[in-house]
Amino acid sequence: MPGISSARLKQILNLNDFEAQARKHLPRAIFGYVQGGADDGTTISHNREVLNRIRLIPRILRDVSACSQKVTLFGQRFASPFMIAPMGASAVVAHDADNAMAKAARAARIPYILSANAITPIEEIGQSYPGCWFAGYQKPDESNIERMVKRVADAGFTAYFLTADVAVGSNRENNKRNGYTMPFRPTARLAFDMARHPSWLYRTGLKTVCQRGVPRISNIDPVERPSIFSSEIDAVTGYASFSWKHAEMIRRYWKGALIIKGVLSPEDAKLARELGADGIVVSNHGGRQLDCAVSPMEVLSAIKAESGSMTVLVDSGFRRGTDVVKGLASGADAVLIGRPFLYAAALGREKAITRAIGLLQREIHIDQCLLGVETCEALKEIAQA
Ligand code: FNR
Repeated sequence: MPGISSARLKQILNLNDFEAQARKHLPRAIFGYVQGGADDGTTISHNREVLNRIRLIPRILRDVSACSQKVTLFGQRFASPFMIAPMGASAVVAHDADNAMAKAARAARIPYILSANAITPIEEIGQSYPGCWFAGYQKPDESNIERMVKRVADAGFTAYFLTADVAVGSNRENNKRNGYTMPFRPTARLAFDMARHPSWLYRTGLKTVCQRGVPRISNIDPVERPSIFSSEIDAVTGYASFSWKHAEMIRRYWKGALIIKGVLSPEDAKLARELGADGIVVSNHGGRQLDCAVSPMEVLSAIKAESGSMTVLVDSGFRRGTDVVKGLASGADAVLIGRPFLYAAALGREKAITRAIGLLQREIHIDQCLLGVETCEALKEIAQA
């Protein structure tokens, strides 16, 4: 059973289109895991409302024949000001999704961030795609932090994103309603759901199990590779006592770029700066953690003012070239995008992810030309209404 056909892929015209196609392909429980948010999902819709409200003021009659969307982030040069966000358990959504995303990102010269909650071992991604970035959270214990940081460095990662907005797992009622749980509990309902989606069952369910055996979450210490059926996996949903004191330990042991992910308050941006972080991600986790959280775009400018020389990244709900442009015009250096790339991986692996990247790059190019700005740096000057 092949992935999405080239003709079908050509009908996908923007990042939102991947969601509609993925809804048909994925079992309800798995689609819900990706698409869903916390509580009532108001943060997800609010993220979009805030982005849609922002209007851009274009400049005319400027020479934009040499438009470039290249950016430098943490000393590396990239083709575009966006990247693939870390997403855990992605191999449940698409067989070998981590490899497919890393490979497509590398070919397109954009960053890919591997989640600590991946099913693919970090060494496999780190060694195949040196210079890749890593995102995780840690058990609040110094020896564990030292060991994990060493493992990430030895695997070849150059940037460490500390996921800081997961003190506890959030309330995801859609998962409960659809029967998606971690640890994974096979039920007759789930089996029926999967059987109704044979293309996913063959291309992901069976392939993942045949290739890797029982899926395991690879990268969480102290529990070494717990299976997704194991109750030990509860430990990966967050560590309530993890605090700035533990972030300082990571800073001490990690010599590469350290980025704090999940900042929504200017005071926390200041603390990240004082910690010696190289960057922050202004994020509400795509509406998956605290429902009713502020949208990153509502606080980006105030956070930027506190960020000093740190690199400022932003995410949560960005889908269009104009969204990326709005992020940059409000003070971000680049944007993370999550769900659409995972949907693309589910539909057509590397080929579909490459199309997603290409579509967004094309939109950014058009937007830059229509706004009259040739560089990402110049986008920072674009006025908004
Ligand atoms: C995530 N996200 C996430 N973030 C993180 O730091 N570690 C993780 O393990 C995960 N896992 C995860 C799984 C899935 C299925 C999704 C959709 C998201 C959050 C992610 O990195 C990013 O912040 C949001 O996805 C951005 O919002 P959009 O672009 O998906 O709207």
